[in-house]
Amino acid sequence: RQRESQSLYQLTEKAADFYRNQLRAHPAAGRAIAYLRGRGLSGEIARDFGIGLAPPGWDNLLNELGDTAQNADLLEQAGLAIRRQDSDGNTKPGSRHHYDRFRNRIMFPIRDQRGRVIAFGGRVLGDDKPKYLNSPETPIFHKSRELYGLWEARQANRTLDRLIVVEGYMDVVALAQFGIRCAVATLGTACGEEHIQLAFRHTPELVFCFDGDQAGRTAAKRALEAALPHMQDGRSLRFLLLPEGEDPDTLVRQVGGERFQQMIDEQGRPLEDFLFDLLGEGINLQTMDGRARLSKLAAPLLDLLPAGVYRQLMFQQLAARTGLDKDTLQEVISAEKARAA
Ligand code: GTP
Ligand code: MN
Ligand code: MN
Ligand code: MN
Ligand code: MN
Repeated sequence: RQRESQSLYQLTEKAADFYRNQLRAHPAAGRAIAYLRGRGLSGEIARDFGIGLAPPGWDNLLNELGDTAQNADLLEQAGLAIRRQDSDGNTKPGSRHHYDRFRNRIMFPIRDQRGRVIAFGGRVLGDDKPKYLNSPETPIFHKSRELYGLWEARQANRTLDRLIVVEGYMDVVALAQFGIRCAVATLGTACGEEHIQLAFRHTPELVFCFDGDQAGRTAAKRALEAALPHMQDGRSLRFLLLPEGEDPDTLVRQVGGERFQQMIDEQGRPLEDFLFDLLGEGINLQTMDGRARLSKLAAPLLDLLPAGVYRQLMFQQLAARTGLDKDTLQEVISAEKARAA
């Protein structure tokens, strides 16, 4: 298994080289470069992130790296080739029975913490669907445990005062283009506990900066829940909510890097504000019913916080808002737990 993974790492690295070279040498490179330029990216940033091109066609990578049946199988294991199926659903053996997963896409190599290429995200150059295609789970790629851009952020900073968590590859790269080299993205998946743990291993402060759309707001709520169990004292978490229709990429291109940083500092809502605002939506705390509803919503969430001063302060906040004391809130937690079970 160890040896198998070794060869997968070698293969993904070679594939990254191949895609990168295609962005220089392939006849279709002109269009790809124009696309990247059109999105405001310089050659320097493209190089820093190892951006490449999967050219049009069904077997470019296979011809390069899948010359034998064994190598074609390895490409399949690495998530880079797909095995054709017979009409009866059986898969066929042999190298000629694979095709390239990534075709006619801008390629973003995904690196692990040690800088090894483990997977790719690929974007269409226009408006085709699906817009993004990601590598599937493989023996070396588990998307719930990886953050795009983390390795690049660590390369660019001696210490990471903060990490900005965004939704997309383009957000990470566009922020870097404007000098903000500390953004990471989840890979077409919700930001879960493992992402948060990974991020907090490298920095004490996270800033969530998701898109100003319904998907982004839902992502922020889920990220909040995933983060609560990991809010040890000394760690902090903020949310920068973007104007409707904007994402970090479009926003930083409008306002520039300095203003974007400033917005994080001035408008980034600390976890405590964000949480109570979110839970308090549509609740009138002037009424007893409203205070009861807030305590039922908030107490089980705050109960996710690890023991510490921060937990105590959050419960004090809730107590102040609802007028309930600590013991009563503890009863609410127990009751809500019993109800959920
Ligand atoms: P751009 O249009 O290139 O700026 O992409 P975006 O990152 O702004 O995309 P969007 O906000 O629509 O989606 C956020 C993230 O979700 C993307 O970066 C992808 O990781 C993922 N995503 C979006 N569309 C797709 C899709 O069609 N398939 C998959 N698997 N993931 C997607
Ligand atoms: Mn593994
Ligand atoms: Mn979006
Ligand atoms: Mn977006
Ligand atoms: Mn975008």
